Amino acid sequence: MTEAKTILVTGGAGFIGSAVIRHLIADTDASVVNLDMLTYAANLETLASVSGSERYSFERVDIRDATEVARVFSQHQPDAVMHLAAESHVDRSIDGPDDFIQTNIVGTYVLLEAARAYREGLTGGARDAFRFHHISTDEVFGSLGDEGMFTEETRYDPRSPYSASKAASDHLVRAWGETYGLPVVLSNCSNNYGPYHFPEKLIPLMIIKGLAGEALPVYGTGENVRDWLYVEDHARALWLVCSRGQVGESYNIGGKNEVQNVEVVRRLCQHLDQMTPRVDGKPREDQISFVTDRPGHDFRYAIDASKAERELGWTPLETFESGLEKTVRWYLDNEDWWRPILDGKYAGQRLGVGG
Ligand code: NAD
Ligand code: DAU
Repeated sequence: MTEAKTILVTGGAGFIGSAVIRHLIADTDASVVNLDMLTYAANLETLASVSGSERYSFERVDIRDATEVARVFSQHQPDAVMHLAAESHVDRSIDGPDDFIQTNIVGTYVLLEAARAYREGLTGGARDAFRFHHISTDEVFGSLGDEGMFTEETRYDPRSPYSASKAASDHLVRAWGETYGLPVVLSNCSNNYGPYHFPEKLIPLMIIKGLAGEALPVYGTGENVRDWLYVEDHARALWLVCSRGQVGESYNIGGKNEVQNVEVVRRLCQHLDQMTPRVDGKPREDQISFVTDRPGHDFRYAIDASKAERELGWTPLETFESGLEKTVRWYLDNEDWWRPILDGKYAGQRLGVGG
């Protein structure tokens, strides 16, 4: 695809999808159609900086609704799909896998069928240039020990309902490429963090609980390792994968920032203590509390992103230090974004203890 003009972004009201849309509107000349059903995880406020653009439109549609999805393709005539809509939270998938199976697997199937039918109606250059970019996770590769990294060749070994549903969707996407010739491209990324992150996830939850003087619940021993990537670096990578990636290929995206969970929480405490000290002057590290582990908790993720760096010329701009500091500052400055979430959709309670 040399000149993508209209990009259909699914899940654009979520954390990463909204970063992709802000990037597309600010830094490219593409038009964007945001298709999102607005689950608990969505927030249209997150798109306030771009929603006034003539190049932005919004469709409140469930990706499982084949009729409505087909209408969106027909009405907007996209040049590419960037598919991010998903149930994304591992702990919620432990408490209730059904939405994960329905949205991540069935929804992806519905979208693939709609894209296939739509593309069959295109001719010439538009047909060749069409892309279906599936955005996935490193969790499909399972859990690493102390050594090694995930490459594009790593065997799939998902271990949670969430990662199994994402693995299934990856397989469907590859199958539609092989069997029907749909021009697909995939990417698998490590843990994102940054502004507009829903406060069920580790980093925003710890910032908000840290500010409130509440216990900071670290699962198990806190030695589990995640490989953190600033969300805007991911958004840039995704556009490169969509616009320059080779058909049928997948690209691992990650920030080379492996950190143990307890160390992430300690660093957040230090930033908070520096920016807004506790009234009693005590360090927020005192709030850390080791709690019952997540069932099936993957020990370590680490991404080898050398293929994306080599073939797409992508490189992350933020270090973990600079990104974390920006993120803490953003949550301090944007309480009007996250406070309504705590007052309505999610109050910070423990999720994913099984059952
Ligand atoms: P998110 O939970 O913040 O947002 C998901 C969005 O999808 C929401 O706006 C929601 O309303 C929408 N959605 C959910 N079900 C839908 C449906 N049936 N129809 C239409 N819209 C629906 O998720 P995120 O963290 O932004 O993740 C986006 C994608 O990136 C997901 O596919 C996820 O698996 C993948 N991913 C996430 C991370 C991460 O660290 N967050 C890392 C790698 C990959
Ligand atoms: O690796 C990519 C994945 O990263 C994405 O595919 C998922 O969509 C995204 O949610 C994220 O999954 P994780 O399970 O790694 O993210 P989470 O923020 O839930 O947890 C990060 C780590 O912190 C994990 O090891 C569990 C731990 N944790 C989490 C929470 C919410 C805690 O110790 N305490 C907590 O309260």
